[in-house]
Amino acid sequence: MNPNSLSKYRPFPPVSLPDRSWPDKVLNRAPTWCSVDLRDGNQALPQPMSVEEKLEFFDLLVRIGFKEIEIGFPSAADTEFQFCRRLIDEKRIPEDVTIQVLVQTREHLIRRTFEAIAGARRAIVHIYNSTSPLQRRVTFSDASRDEIREIAVSGARLVRDLVPSIPETEIVLQYSPESFSDTELDFSLECCQAVMDVWKPTPEKQIILNLPATVEWTTPNVHADQIEWMCRHLSPREAAIVSLHTHNDRGTGVAATELGLLAGANRVEGTLFGNGERTGNLDIVTVALNFNSHGIATGLDFSDLATIRTVYERVTRLPVPERQPYAGELVFTAFSGSHQDAIRKGFERRRKEGDSAAAWGVPYLTIDPQDIGRSYEAIIRINSQSGKGGVAYVLENEYGFDLPKTMHPQVGRCVYDLADRLGRELDAAEIREAFLENFANLSDPLALLDYELIHHTAERGEVRCVASISHHGRKEDAVGNGNGPINAFVRALESKGLKDFKLTDYRSHAIRGGSDADSAAYIQLQHDDGRTVWGAGVDPSIEMAGLRALVSAWNLLRHTGRGE
Ligand code: KIV
Ligand code: ZN
Repeated sequence: MNPNSLSKYRPFPPVSLPDRSWPDKVLNRAPTWCSVDLRDGNQALPQPMSVEEKLEFFDLLVRIGFKEIEIGFPSAADTEFQFCRRLIDEKRIPEDVTIQVLVQTREHLIRRTFEAIAGARRAIVHIYNSTSPLQRRVTFSDASRDEIREIAVSGARLVRDLVPSIPETEIVLQYSPESFSDTELDFSLECCQAVMDVWKPTPEKQIILNLPATVEWTTPNVHADQIEWMCRHLSPREAAIVSLHTHNDRGTGVAATELGLLAGANRVEGTLFGNGERTGNLDIVTVALNFNSHGIATGLDFSDLATIRTVYERVTRLPVPERQPYAGELVFTAFSGSHQDAIRKGFERRRKEGDSAAAWGVPYLTIDPQDIGRSYEAIIRINSQSGKGGVAYVLENEYGFDLPKTMHPQVGRCVYDLADRLGRELDAAEIREAFLENFANLSDPLALLDYELIHHTAERGEVRCVASISHHGRKEDAVGNGNGPINAFVRALESKGLKDFKLTDYRSHAIRGGSDADSAAYIQLQHDDGRTVWGAGVDPSIEMAGLRALVSAWNLLRHTGRGE
């Protein structure tokens, strides 16, 4: 920000609450959740949802497990009214779900709202009026506190008086002193108490007092102080459900809600992925999964987050950002090498320990991605910043290649160089291709065309290898005896003056999950000048895979830049 502009702004006054108790509290049970996707969220869409889209979204919210759903502002527009009627007339509202409708405290709007909800089993009628000094001064042309309080009271009275007009519907009253976050606390309390005096709630028939951070003006600790202050002063406290409704102007809507719950609130309003005015409403997915990540049940089921996200993106026409907690494309992906190594080790340890219910403990991952329907394969992705372990992890988990540990740096470097040259991330198939192309079955300048092994049973283990090779395009036969196929082949090369190395390591295995039952072999050679390289061979025959690995390593000793 331009430093000259700073004089326009003021610090936000703190709440005087020296004996605040919320900092020592722990979140150990989930609140009541209310989705406001179909109202606050919908209101904020460049292209609001159609009735059909709202119906689909409503069904999604029900499947997730929401028991309270603000379905719209039925008195504000015909589509909103029709949507409410369709839910009721087509009996789409499950027995245990309560719809909530928003309405300003204006008589004709409240009457129309009652027409919209008639016939519902139960409905929350949500009235609101703005209370902050800024709104009183600017929007309501210097209205007094008494005038503003009276708006709330008259709305509550009308709702109370209309209740008998739809006897088949149980009405719950919700009142929001809108702009609570910058309203004087004593005035928020005055409005809430005045509404309670009209509605006369009891612990058995509670009122919902929703205390919105309509605009997030300050830090979450101040929000928590405001909520604790209200919870302490409301009377009778047990007759009210204190509800939170945070927006995200400073990017701390989730934190404000979590601290508000510590401060004594019982209920949370929010939207999937935080859609809502300006920077959005509270992201209810994040808060609920944060609870889950501490082992606390929420009643909301986000185990198939991908499907939820797909429906959301289609009907809202808004993308879920790649870094969105839990749901974003990249949030279970590690690019950094050290992170990849640690994650791989974490998974390996869990596999070895074999107890899928044991306490979660994989570095860098707050939850098991599988618990919300995400896959392990997507966890590690490779770019030029990645570590050697990441490439080996992909080759092993996606393609069944179990590379020797000392081969990881050589393959890793080659793959990262490629990512660097291309200036982008590589997918698993590209990594496999790079590995095979650069390390496996290499045939230039030396190629193994064919071979025959003759086992001399008399001398135990003695093998004769008759190999047909091509060296710089010149074909010849090479023969050698050894105590195994590899050793015999090394002797065959020696007979042609091609042995300028020591074989220092050899591994082979069947490729897990390989469709054509291939085997893989890895051979490390040390050149007489001290350089070491790994080469690989892949072949249906494990013997041939070994010989191919040796030839690959031999060729790599002739290439520059692939050795250790
Ligand atoms: O943000 C807000 O204050 C609202 C109210 C209508 C509750 O959405
Ligand atoms: Zn809102």
